[in-house]
Amino acid sequence: MSRVIRLNSPPLLAYGGVPQHISTAGYPEASKELIKKGLFMKKVLITGITGQDGSYLAEFLLHKGCEVHGIIRRASTFNTGRIDHIYVDPHAPKAKLFLHYGDLSNAEQVSDIIYNVRPDEIYHLGAQSHVRVSFDMPEYTGNIIALGTIRILEIIRRSKKSIKFYQASSSEMFGRSPSPQDENTAFRPSSPYASAKTYAHWMVANYREGYNTFASSGILFNHESPRRGETFVTRKITKAVANIVAGKQKKLYLGNLKAKRDWGYAPEYVEIMWKILQQNKPGDYVIGTGKEHSVEEFVALAFNYAGLKHKKYVKIDKNYYRPTDVHDSVADSSKAREELGWQPRVKCEELVKIMVDADMRAIGIKPIGEGDKILKKRFPKKWWKAEHTTGKN
Ligand code: NAP
Ligand code: GDD
Repeated sequence: MSRVIRLNSPPLLAYGGVPQHISTAGYPEASKELIKKGLFMKKVLITGITGQDGSYLAEFLLHKGCEVHGIIRRASTFNTGRIDHIYVDPHAPKAKLFLHYGDLSNAEQVSDIIYNVRPDEIYHLGAQSHVRVSFDMPEYTGNIIALGTIRILEIIRRSKKSIKFYQASSSEMFGRSPSPQDENTAFRPSSPYASAKTYAHWMVANYREGYNTFASSGILFNHESPRRGETFVTRKITKAVANIVAGKQKKLYLGNLKAKRDWGYAPEYVEIMWKILQQNKPGDYVIGTGKEHSVEEFVALAFNYAGLKHKKYVKIDKNYYRPTDVHDSVADSSKAREELGWQPRVKCEELVKIMVDADMRAIGIKPIGEGDKILKKRFPKKWWKAEHTTGKN
């Protein structure tokens, strides 16, 4: 039986105290050796663990042998659908996933969790992540995304512990800046969501430069999966296709069909989050496929895959338009390609098939099957177990 050594386990200080840690973040060679031999278990904390990315990331980090802690919000309905398949009773001897109640609006609670868990790495993914909703709830969106990030950065700074920090920055920050967009492209945020993400992004850079915090940002372009929230456009489309084939839906109401996005496959994007924090130096990385498609193209691909003509089913509802929208968005990930070996494996056309197959299976009809074949071919050693979860949003 392997013995696990925790290098960061000083006596627990009273609540509110500043832990005097022996830092393992940055991993000196000796620790690296221990990790390789499976004798050292890294502790990570994920905000937004119940979301699309958080759920995949938790699964990926468990697969990597980490002890994973996640912050969840109290809800009157279950919000853990995406992580139920990896959850085991925390009393079980092999339990490596632990959940803590908290909210990004509450610094004291989050600080309590960080001081008690004492993570080596924090992946900060929690957010009000819906751009359209951010126009309806601008103040709340700013509180959670912008101030929520600064709350965590401050806790790290005050702890004097070298915790590595990953920030979920977004291509939305580029707004209407011309594509393709890289790390040097100017930010022109055009929504409350994008403005809040831009504030958080600059604060991360500020802490990196001013306080030497190991803080990195992944500027990720859109990434989707069968676990995507059902009101984001890709999932809304693939779920509708499955419903229409099953005779459970007649029409699909959408907004702006002309907008273009650079859509990739979410599991690949969480792998790169981890890689970003394993670099020797912190920094910013643009992550995308480098190809864009319009919403209408995505719609046509999904309906064609199921043998349907989209024009017969798709109707426009102006309520889904945004006061300002990002017209087109395509990544130049040259830096990530060179420094991280970033090489996306799933193309948009393939993503569509993966998602339609999963949605068909979820409502109990036989999937067409090309998406399943793509998954098998591209990921012979795939580390995630559930393809589909109930998802919400
Ligand atoms: P998501 O599915 O909407 O998940 C968001 C997560 O944040 C959920 O776990 C949610 O909890 C949690 N959350 C929301 N408000 C919170 C609060 N007040 N306190 C604590 N937790 C809160 O988003 P995602 O697609 O996984 O994206 C993950 C992150 O990457 C987000 O920051 C997003 O803005 C960013 N991002 C995403 C993309 C993309 O294409 N997916 C691209 C670029 C950047 P509940 O489950 O309880 O709602
Ligand atoms: N959601 C939605 N619903 N979008 C629609 C609809 C609809 O019915 N009809 C057209 N669209 C258009 C939107 O106007 C937008 O131009 C595009 O589809 C994509 O919308 P979303 O899927 O909601 O994603 P997003 O690009 O606004 O934001 C997502 O990606 C960002 C990365 O660029 C979110 O995941 C953000 O959190 C993330 O940062």
